[in-house]
This record gives sequence, C-alpha cells and structure tokens, in this order.
Amino acid sequence: MPETDWSGDWKVIKSLVPYLLEFPARVFVALSFLVLAKVANVIVPYVLKLIVDGLSDPTAALLSLPLALLIAYGLLRFSTTFFGELRDAIFSRVAERGMRRIGLKVFSHLHSLDVNFHLSRKTGGLSRDIERGTSGIAFLLRFMLFNILPTFLELALICAILLYNFSAWYVVITLVAVVSYIGFSVLVTEWRLRFVREMNQMDNKSNTRAIDSLLNYETVKYFGNEEYESQLYDEQLENWEEARLANRYSLFALNSGQAVIIALSMTAMMILAAQEVVNGDMTVGDLVMVNAYMIQLFVPLNFLGFVYREIKNSLANIEQMFRLLDTEGSVADADHAGELQLTGGEVEFRDVHFGYRSDREILHGVSFRIPAGSKLAIVGPSGSGKSTIGRLLFRFYDTWQGQVLVDGQDISQLTQASLRAQIGVVPQDTVLFNDSIRYNIAYGKTGASEEEIRQAARMANLGHFIEQLPDGYDTLVGERGLKLSGGEKQRIAIARTLLKKPAIMIFDEATSSLDSTAERAILGALQKAAENHTTLAIAHRLSTVVDADQILVLDGGDIVERGSHRELLQAGGLYAELWQNQQQEQQLQETLPHSDEAGLTTSS
Ligand SMILES: Nc1ncnc2c1ncn2[C@@H]1O[C@H](COP(=O)(O)OP(=O)(O)OP(=O)(O)O)[C@@H](O)[C@H]1O
Ligand SMILES: [Mg+2]
Repeated sequence: MPETDWSGDWKVIKSLVPYLLEFPARVFVALSFLVLAKVANVIVPYVLKLIVDGLSDPTAALLSLPLALLIAYGLLRFSTTFFGELRDAIFSRVAERGMRRIGLKVFSHLHSLDVNFHLSRKTGGLSRDIERGTSGIAFLLRFMLFNILPTFLELALICAILLYNFSAWYVVITLVAVVSYIGFSVLVTEWRLRFVREMNQMDNKSNTRAIDSLLNYETVKYFGNEEYESQLYDEQLENWEEARLANRYSLFALNSGQAVIIALSMTAMMILAAQEVVNGDMTVGDLVMVNAYMIQLFVPLNFLGFVYREIKNSLANIEQMFRLLDTEGSVADADHAGELQLTGGEVEFRDVHFGYRSDREILHGVSFRIPAGSKLAIVGPSGSGKSTIGRLLFRFYDTWQGQVLVDGQDISQLTQASLRAQIGVVPQDTVLFNDSIRYNIAYGKTGASEEEIRQAARMANLGHFIEQLPDGYDTLVGERGLKLSGGEKQRIAIARTLLKKPAIMIFDEATSSLDSTAERAILGALQKAAENHTTLAIAHRLSTVVDADQILVLDGGDIVERGSHRELLQAGGLYAELWQNQQQEQQLQETLPHSDEAGLTTSS
C-alpha cells in the first residue's frame, strides 16, 4: 500500500520531540496529572462494586447507607475530570508554542524560497496546507501523550484488577477484544487514508480556485464572467463534495466494524459473568464492576479509533507541510558564501547565458560593464530579456553560464542578503502592501524616521499628491495597492527605493506609467539620487535614457548595439530607428495636445 509510510510517520513524530522538550517540567506535570486521573478512573468501578455488594448483602441485619463509599465515589468521579482538565491546562502552553514555532518556521522558509517557487505556487492551496499542518501538530502533541499512552495504562490497570479478582478468562476476552479492535481500526484507517488525502486535495483545489478568482475580480468584472467563475468554482466544490462523501461512507464502515467488535466482546464477558453469579462464584457487585470496566475501557478505545484516524490525518497534513519545508530554492547561498565587499558598485556581466526553462534560452551570451557610479541603459523590444538582466543582477535566478560580478566578486559566491542589501529595484509592476502609504514607503528602510520618509516622498515627486489626500500618509492603498493610480504606485516604489539608499539601482521602466510632466520631474530627482550610484535603467521611452553613459540595445537576448546616445544615432541602426519613431510620435502628440499637455504649454 503506497499510503503506508511508517518511516515517514516516524520522522514526523521524531521531529515533534523538540517541541515537547522545550517545556520538560510542564510535560512532566501534565503526565503526572494524567496518571492520577487514570488511577482515579480505575478505582471508580471498584467502589461501585463495594456499594452494590453492601446494599445487596442479605446477611446484614440492618441496611445502612454506605455514606463514606458514596462520597468517595463522588470525589473519585470529580477527580478524573478535574485532573484531566488540569493536565490539559498545563499542557496547553507546550502545544500552542509548538504551533507558533512551526508556523513561523514555515513562513520564513517560504520567504527563503526563490522566485520560481512563488511564481508557480498556488496561494489558496498553500495557505490551507499550512493551516492543516500547524493544527495537525497541536493535535499530535496532545493526543500522542494523552490518548494513546493513557489508554494503554488504563488497559494494564484493568487487566491487573480483573486478573487479581476473577479468572484469567476475563483478561483473555479483554485482550482479544482490544487487539482485534486495534487491528481492525488500523487496517481500515489505512485503507481510508486515500479518501482523506483526496478530500484535502479537493479542498486545496477549490480554495485555490476561489482565491485566484477573487484576486482577479477586476478581470472577472471586465468580462462579465461572474457566472462562469461561479460555475468553475462549483465544479471544484462538487469534486470536494464527492470526496467528502466517500470519506464519510468509509467512516461508516469503520465505525460499524468497531461497534461489532465491542458488542461481541461485551456480550461474551456478560455471559461469563452472569453464569458465575448464577453459580455463586461472583457477587452482583462483581458483575456490575466487570461491566463498568468494560464500558470504561471501550470508551477510550473507541476514542482511540478516532484518535488513530486523526493522528494519521495529522501526520498526512504535517507531512505535506514538511514537504514544503523540504523544498529547496534553486538559488541558495554557496557553502562558503562571503559577504559582498563594496568598493563602489561596479557591475559586470560576463558572457551570461540564461533561460527560465532548460528548453528555452533567453539571454545568449550577454556581456557589459557598468563602471561604479555610472548609468547604463538597456532598451529594446518587448520580451527581449531586459527585465531578465535586472533579475539576474539581483540574483533572483542563477545564470546558466558566465558570471555576474559586483565590484569584481562573482555574485553566486556571495550571500544573497549582502548582495541584495546593496541593490535597489523599482520593478516594472509595483505591488504594494495593503497598508498605509507611510508603511509602504518606510518599507525601504525599516525604522526610518518621519522626516526621511517625507524626504523620500518629495524626491519621488509624491509630496504634493500625499498632502492633498484627506488622510495624508495614513491613506490605505488597498490590496496590492489597487487604490492608487499606476503612476502613484510607481512613485511610491521609487520613494521606498530612494529610502533604501542602495549602491546600485535598477529601474525597470520606473516611469512608464507617468505622464511626461511627472516623468521629467522625477527623472531630475532620480538623476540627483543616482549621482553616486551605479544605475541600470531599463526603458521603453528612449527620451528617458539619453543621458546614460552607455546604452545597450537588446534584441532577442543578444546585445545588438552599444554606445552613447550620440554614437548610436550616428550608427544609424535599430536604436536610431526606434528614436526616429518615438520622435515622430511625440511630434504627433504635440500637434494634437490632450488636456494636461495643453495645460502645461500655457503655464510654461
Ligand atoms: N518566470 C518566467 N518563466 C518563463 N519565462 C519567462 C519568465 N519570465 C519571463 N519569461 C520570458 O522571458 C522573456 C524575456 O522576458 P523579460 O521580462 O526579460 O522581457 P523584457 O525585455 O523585460 O520585456 P518588456 O519590455 O515587455 O518588459 C520573455 O519572452 C518572457 O516570456
Ligand atoms: Mg520587462
């Protein structure tokens, strides 16, 4: 059976031990309460027997109420519950802390994974996996200790009492019942596990679908596809319904089988006891006691079936989560990765080959050098690999061949943290946190002062915009920043990068969403900010890169031209052609001014 992976289970169980060891005293005290509760529990039927026998003793001349025994009975009953509750209360800290630790571990791990993982992950399903995994851990910690262990302890105590008081037959029946009960439960639960897995899978799928659909609500509305989305979601829900039903039916099989085993052994036990009462070998009190023990034993045993099932579920869930923890990013720090020793921020690409998939090379041997403090621009058609170059410099991916160097150090031999600390990126598509403008700007430098934040905002030409907002810097930007315009988002991205003050800046179409007035204002600010920075600017609008020290024209993953603006114009190649086109477009725009351009002409 592929489902049965005991070594995997064992691995998961072992991995939980450290969480228990974090609070050894608590675990010990909780276990002590557990033993007390069980002992009290086992004494109850014995006291019950004494009461029954006392009441039905025909030789006693005067029937007196066995008050002391009754009080003891009540106290014992109370203690079983009370000790149980104490145990749970004391153990809580251990379980909750375990959940916290593992939740954090998974979260940090997810952030340590590379871009590729995040591009292909499914947020909805992922969050479900984590949810199930962490609650699985709490469950497992609790039930390993408090159900499996005590049930066997109780079994041993009861067998001892039966053996001491009556014939060995009772013990034989008990053990046969318990063994077949457990055997049956384990086998059927193993068989059922695939239904559980399927159910979880369906749960993930429908959740993934729902989240993805909600994230795309705008597109859904643009195309009036609400019905269609509901229909797709319902298809997932239908699968989920079926999976849950199959699961439920298999549960029926399990529970019925368990009930048969219990009924048979109880009957056998009662027949045996009744016979002995008739023969005069046992008192009525003994019969009551045997019956009480059986019930008492089968209740937790029945629970054990449930617990075993849940434990298997939890193990499956935790395993799934651990699989996440085991995924390794393809970009990892080298074994002896060093810190980046910054001397100025020179960047060099040496014959870099790269592709996102092994069957499609995107960059075919790209080489260039950006001297410290200078500005290099990359232009070229869409899809030619411009953003890819920026991603390689930031080491979101490793190159296939060739090297990327910063101040002469191969970045694949540096720690990712030290490299990235020196690089600021204004990406092509800015996504913001669903928080205030202040929070999003301050993200560039955690702990930045209000003055620094305001200054960065001013440099990014945001000051005026923010001042006229009713909530100013406290304005909430909405999920992914959707409550702001594209240009506003871009300027926030610029502001937070300026705040970071990195040695190397990558601007990937950083001003593409801005109108030409705002763009001009910002470019001025960027130029100032970039004065002592090395800059890699990617642009569509060539007018934004004329000041670059060097311009690369990228086409289909090859550098087809390079030089300064003037040199490239003189060369009369692709760049000159693009420039011509864009100039013509601009002239066309100027002869047909639209409203804000017109406003500009009158004011200047
Ligand atoms: N994660 C990815 N997986 C697979 N292919 C990718 C991935 N990201 C980009 N590509 C492909 O790599 C090629 C280069 O992409 P890149 O983003 O570098 O283009 P670009 O020059 O920045 O284009 P644009 O001007 O449109 O932004 C594209 O053909 C794109 O489809
Ligand atoms: Mg791009």
